[in-house]
Amino acid sequence: LESEALAKVETASSLQELQGVRVAYLGKKGPITEVLRGMGKLSAEERPVIGELANKVRGNIAAAIDEKKAGIEAEQLEKQLEEEQIDVTLPGRPVAVGGPHLLTSIVEEIEDLFIGLGFEIREGPEVETDYFNFEALNLPKGHPARDMQDSFYITEDLLLRTHTSPVQARTMNAMENKQPVKMICPGKVYRRDTDDATHSHQFTQIEGLYVDKNVRMSDLKGVLDRFAKHMFGEDREIRLRPSFFPFTEPSVEMDISCKMCNGKGCSVCKRTGWIEILGAGMVHPRVLEMAGYDPKVYSGFAFGMGPERIAMLKYGVDDIRHFYTNDLRFLKQYHKA
Ligand code: PHE
Repeated sequence: LESEALAKVETASSLQELQGVRVAYLGKKGPITEVLRGMGKLSAEERPVIGELANKVRGNIAAAIDEKKAGIEAEQLEKQLEEEQIDVTLPGRPVAVGGPHLLTSIVEEIEDLFIGLGFEIREGPEVETDYFNFEALNLPKGHPARDMQDSFYITEDLLLRTHTSPVQARTMNAMENKQPVKMICPGKVYRRDTDDATHSHQFTQIEGLYVDKNVRMSDLKGVLDRFAKHMFGEDREIRLRPSFFPFTEPSVEMDISCKMCNGKGCSVCKRTGWIEILGAGMVHPRVLEMAGYDPKVYSGFAFGMGPERIAMLKYGVDDIRHFYTNDLRFLKQYHKA
């Protein structure tokens, strides 16, 4: 029996097979258990002899099984190590890493500049009340200038904001004790326009507002000049042209000198050598008053610009829709290495 069992242990080639041998010979229904169970029927002389023999056989088989088991396990480990060998000299697989969207980069660049000039960043709701979007900005109901900004109305009193200027009114309104205000506010705005290369029903604006005692037009001009040079190069000049916005008086539009010529020509330049960048002006006394500021004590300037337009001019992007269609061939050009 013993040599038969040992032979089976020897030829077992897997842990499963080995377990089969263990059950067959040492299990509850195996021959050795049977022998030990039958001990009671034996005579007193036979009992110790048979008992000892059975235990010895069981011990030998168990030892052989354990030894074989260790052998098989070692072999399997060896095989596994062999198969799973890692070639550390293989080149790594490239990991696709994203980058900030061009529009995000431009907005952050502009934010950084204005933070450096002491402006805070503010935000306001995109679903705005008629009051803050128009009324508080000196645009009462029926005012013809409301037509300058075709609006998406939600109810009679709620609309998607058509510009970031309501954040001016909100910020001034929220100021306790009517402290000075120095903030910029980037955000999405909406207009009922037909999308084309230069128009989008949703786009971005950055509003700026500075209210304090003795804020003058020359302060506005100085800040805008710094902005233009920061974004487009120290050799740029700015020019302010008279314009109209209901919430500023006087109102201006700012042009920057246009020297954006490369090998292919000066495509983004107008023939005049100037290109329009943003709208601005001195905060209208009525706007200050409605927000609780005494226009005899306080004055301020405000400006509003479109970062898409800035990016288009800076990088020669020819279609505003590129910003929103997420074509990686476009976006990747502006990822910094
Ligand atoms: N809100 C104006 C627009 O959207 C821009 C602007 C802002 C003009 C602040 C003057 C002052 O056209």
